[in-house]
Formats: sequence, structure tokens, C-alpha cells
Amino acid sequence: MIVAGNFKANMTRKSTAAYLEKLEQYITEKETTPQVMIFPPATALDSLKGKILVGAQNAYPAQNGAFTGETALEQLEEFGIDTILIGHSERRHVLGESQEAIAQKYAFYKEQGFTIVYCIGEPLEIREEGNDVLMAYLDAQLVGIDLSYEKLVIAYEPVWAIGTGLTPSNSDIELLHTALRHKIEKPLLYGGSVKVNNAAEIMALDNVDGVLVGGASLDVDGFFSMVEDAQKCDS
Ligand code: 13P
Repeated sequence: MIVAGNFKANMTRKSTAAYLEKLEQYITEKETTPQVMIFPPATALDSLKGKILVGAQNAYPAQNGAFTGETALEQLEEFGIDTILIGHSERRHVLGESQEAIAQKYAFYKEQGFTIVYCIGEPLEIREEGNDVLMAYLDAQLVGIDLSYEKLVIAYEPVWAIGTGLTPSNSDIELLHTALRHKIEKPLLYGGSVKVNNAAEIMALDNVDGVLVGGASLDVDGFFSMVEDAQKCDS
């Protein structure tokens, strides 16, 4: 199981360091087995790491260069970061990243040997069009992505479930993950309004290999309780 937390533009360098220290202590004391990943804001990427995989929420596909406002490989390397989130719905829909730009980013960080958590997910109007339209939409988000990459993790996050408190039914999650499993033999995370009170049931579903948690990851005690839920699925 994998339990990943995406802080988005929340938390500071200081609060992230305190959070990671506490989480690391929990993981070590309880000897938990799930892989834990945290994606803090870029300013906090130099925070403590041990068993926790700390990753970048985004980076530019270049060693360095004239890319104002971006973080590139050189800056990640300085902090020993080798994990990255690519294709998140907020980058696609709020920041306007195209599939082409996302695929370039993917190819670059794959070439660098990064662990890549690659996100896909549909808006509500697509889901309402039925299963064929939904799967075609998700397929389009996989264009240009090498699905055989050994360090790939897929996160399925329906756009309408992110930050809304809404989730697909457990059977819808299971159906979708099972359909994805036929195409992609990689760990499949579910994301979108995962909370302390639904994480265990979601992780117990077939073909769900973990969760990608936004808002509810900001509370370290709650996040650790989801790691403990994942542990039960591992055993
Ligand atoms: P929420 O858990 O806040 O819905 O966010 C999900 C997400 O976007 C994680 O990447």
C-alpha cells in the first residue's frame, strides 16, 4: 500500500519540517509497512526525510535555465528529491497544462529515474456521459505516457471529488480501478476527498493500492491513522 499526502499550496517550510519529524517518528515507532509519500510546497523540499519519500508537486522539464517561476532538476537534486507528481488536475485545469506539456515533463523525469505519481481524472460532465466517454477521457490523459516505466504510480482523482467532500461510490471506484488495471500494471492510488473516515474502506477495494490525500493530509495525526489503515490492508 502507498499513502501519499499532497499539501498543495499549504504549510510552510517550518510547519512541514515539524510535520515530517512527527510522522517519521510514528512510522519508526509503529514499524508501519506502507510506503509513505509527502508532496510539500517547493519551499519545504529541504525538510527532513527518512523513510518518508518526499516529492515535488511539480517541476520544469529541464536541468536549469530561463524558466521564470519554475523549479528545475538542479534545484530538486540539491535536496535529493527524486519523486514527482505529474498531471495533477489543478495543474491541468487551473494552471492550464496541456497533455503535450505533461507528457514532456513525464519523459524528462522518467529519463532522470524519478518515481512518478501520475494523475488522471475526469470532470463531472464527463462522468455523466457514461463509461465509454469516461474511459476515452482518461485514455487521452495517458497519451505520450510510457505505462511500462518501472517507477510509475498512477493516481486516479476525479476532478469533481477533489476538495468537495464528494466521492464516487465504493463500487464505482472499484469498477474504474479494475478497468484501469487491465491497461496499467502499476500501483493505482485513489484520490479525491479521502478522509480519516473513508480511507480504510477505499483502500480495502479491489485494485486500489493506496490513496493520494489532499486536505486531510494536513493533519499529521489523521494522516498517520490512514497509514495504519493501509497497514491493515498490507497484512
Ligand atoms: P482532497 O483530498 O483535498 O480532495 O484533494 C485530493 C487531491 O487533489 C490530492 O492530490
